[in-house]
Amino acid sequence: MKPTGDRLPRARLVTLLPLALLATGCGSKQSSLAPESPSAHSIATIWWIMLAGSGLGLAVIVGILVAAWFKRDAPGRDRPGTITVLALGIVTPILVLVALFAYSDIFLIRGTSPPVASAASRELTVRVIGHQFWWEVRYPGTTAITANEIHIPVRTHVVMLVHTDDVIHSFWVPQLNRKIDMEPEQVNRVELYADKVGRYRGQCSEFCGLQHAHMGFYVFADPPATFRHWLAREQQPASGAPPPLFMDKCSSCHAIRGTPASANVGPDLTHVGGRTSLAALTIPNTPVRLREWLRETQHVKPGSLMPDLNLTDAQVRQLTRYLEGLK
Ligand code: CUA
Repeated sequence: MKPTGDRLPRARLVTLLPLALLATGCGSKQSSLAPESPSAHSIATIWWIMLAGSGLGLAVIVGILVAAWFKRDAPGRDRPGTITVLALGIVTPILVLVALFAYSDIFLIRGTSPPVASAASRELTVRVIGHQFWWEVRYPGTTAITANEIHIPVRTHVVMLVHTDDVIHSFWVPQLNRKIDMEPEQVNRVELYADKVGRYRGQCSEFCGLQHAHMGFYVFADPPATFRHWLAREQQPASGAPPPLFMDKCSSCHAIRGTPASANVGPDLTHVGGRTSLAALTIPNTPVRLREWLRETQHVKPGSLMPDLNLTDAQVRQLTRYLEGLK
């Protein structure tokens, strides 16, 4: 006999598991079933209709199978005719699938693409470039360059122009619209529109290497005045020159606008202190975690293209102070 002490936690685990799944699935909100834009609502609607349609189809098939099982020994029953088999087995599935395809593709999914011709009339265009393993964000017509945190005005049609600088990535904000591939030679487009002010999590959705899972980003839908203020600040160059330590260790990859540091290998750090996260959402942007990132880069994000820099504790503190001051 097993000790009861072994059974109790297991029983508790069984009752807690659905709650835990609920907490991770719904709490994180990175879900296309928690839509916050008209396009995302269409996508969620398709999902529910497909679920209902396929559930109904499965129920009918299981019902017929069960009925056939119970009647298997009934004497004197005719076998179903060829017409019945063709109608139920071929014509019905074709009709159902064509109807679902037409409904989802023609009526709903096409509506999630921004029309090419009217791009100029849209209120904002944002360019996002995929890198292993982070997102470069530019606002055409301005000097603003940032990384991993995209700001857009709320209730505004924003056209995202996306491509990649290396391998194929996929840009996806499940609560706002469908995913779109980021390809090397072609600029793809998708619209972002947020019904409500808030922070929406996005994720790379095409396997792109060791840190694919840690290639996240945020979309902040701001009130229009907050957005304009943010964009104006992002366009400002940094005030003051970087310390010689930054020029020595960091400037071959990172830019600080308004200073001699102008490389474009890693994220633009001009206003890095104003971001909420680091390393494409791998860690929150706090002095403690930034020190950890500078000290043990390959421990925090193994496979990231930022090398371990072998900095001393004093150097880590100096760089952290400087970078956190770049608001
Ligand atoms: Cu980038 Cu997966």
